[in-house]
Amino acid sequence: MRQHKVIIDTDPGVDDAMAILYACLDPSIELLGLTTIFGNVTTDIATRNSLALLELAGQDLPVARGAEKPIVQEAKPVAWEVHGKEGFGDVPPMLPGSKPVDESAAEFICRLVNENPGEITLCPVGPLTNIALALELDPGIANKVKSVTLMGGSMDEGGNVTSHAEANVWQDPHAADMVFAADWEVIMVGLDVTHQVICTPKDFASMVEPAPKLGGFLNDAAQFYFQFHRDENGFDGCHMHDPTAVMSIVRPDLFSIDETPVSVILEGDEIGRTIRASKTERSAVKVCFGIEVEAVRNLFLETVKNGY
Ligand code: BDR
Ligand code: CA
Repeated sequence: MRQHKVIIDTDPGVDDAMAILYACLDPSIELLGLTTIFGNVTTDIATRNSLALLELAGQDLPVARGAEKPIVQEAKPVAWEVHGKEGFGDVPPMLPGSKPVDESAAEFICRLVNENPGEITLCPVGPLTNIALALELDPGIANKVKSVTLMGGSMDEGGNVTSHAEANVWQDPHAADMVFAADWEVIMVGLDVTHQVICTPKDFASMVEPAPKLGGFLNDAAQFYFQFHRDENGFDGCHMHDPTAVMSIVRPDLFSIDETPVSVILEGDEIGRTIRASKTERSAVKVCFGIEVEAVRNLFLETVKNGY
């Protein structure tokens, strides 16, 4: 039943919470743990929020704390205007009783991948710093990871933090470029598809009665995120970025891909932009371009409604 062993690397974040709780509820996913990163919030808050989400979901799973800053560039400001100062919109901070494990995120990733060769899907849904650090720590993991299914980048859709760059890649472009350059299977779930998946306030409200705990929490957290989309994007709903990446692991049939090597622009006005690289430079990335939007939306909503 649980055929997908997954580690989510995350900066929760409203849509990160959607991704994590979805992963806890999908019976085909065996969530092995969470690793934390700055981005939407600081690494401190991301770690606290990751522990709190697992407690809310009743999951006794490890959380490993990750890097506090990008590999090369200076840290960018966190995205409090999108996700709220504490990460879950206007929901007050939830203080977890549990603590992160002693290993760093990179150490945790390397150990688990070595213990489960060929079995683990890494699912980074924040800046790619921890994944690049894991590769640096043990380059051998590239041959042992099943795939890296990441939310990040934009090939033809334009950016969401600048006109060219998607937020996760922009926060640490050098780390992202290292991940795209490595010789492993990378599936890029970027804005080309996540901008197509929109859920409305009505969709979220419909999860509250059947799943008061997790659906109720997501509905509360999403209100601030809806307001951001109203102000910034002019529609009444939100982009389902991070859960879309998790759903692509279990239902790849709902996505169509094009294979192309990818690199990241590392300086100038277009810093953080993902572009097609020369075929001889690096191995191909599976870039998602097509998506069955209604099926993906329904998978998310039905999975949460069938939860608690
Ligand atoms: C990505 O940036 C963050 O704001 C979201 O959590 C998502 O991972 C979308 O560009
Ligand atoms: Ca995220």
